[in-house]
Amino acid sequence: MDANNIKTKKSINLGPSGRAVAQPMDNSLLDNFFEHLSMERYANVQYFSAYLWFQERDLNGFASYFLSESQGEMEHAQKFADYLIARGQNVKLDELPAPLQKWDSIEDLISFSFNMEADLTSSLQQLYSISERISDTRTNVFLDPIVEAQTKSEDEFANLLGKVKFASNQPSAILLIDSELKKK
Ligand SMILES: [Fe+2]
Repeated sequence: MDANNIKTKKSINLGPSGRAVAQPMDNSLLDNFFEHLSMERYANVQYFSAYLWFQERDLNGFASYFLSESQGEMEHAQKFADYLIARGQNVKLDELPAPLQKWDSIEDLISFSFNMEADLTSSLQQLYSISERISDTRTNVFLDPIVEAQTKSEDEFANLLGKVKFASNQPSAILLIDSELKKK
């Protein structure tokens, strides 16, 4: 090994947070990361709002389902923040819009949730294609299991929407779905 190549003699790149970074992050990728982080945090608050909506209507199965979705979104937000820290970044937290709290029906609320999941997937796809374009392989590897989990979330909401549509607001059918969700 060439003595000039000894790693300890090489200068170390530092990220904005002052931590050592092997590969600096591209600015447009970083902006998209911050935007995605806000979307995950917004989903956290939005599903908490859905939890409240169901609790107020004594549909505790639906409520507990949305509470766990809300907690899941906070875990996603944390995962993204931890990744940015691992890449030497400072994590910027933007202001979030107020969550929606009114829906005309259970079907409306579930449709809204399905669309939110689809938007999260689109945002992940954008992160994925930017990092592919700039050869930020670390980010692609980080995103792989997240994209897979996101596809599962879409499928779960599509399934729940199908059931709720089939129930077409009949109380006995809705209560059946509610007790099924309670067991999860
Ligand atoms: Fe998420």
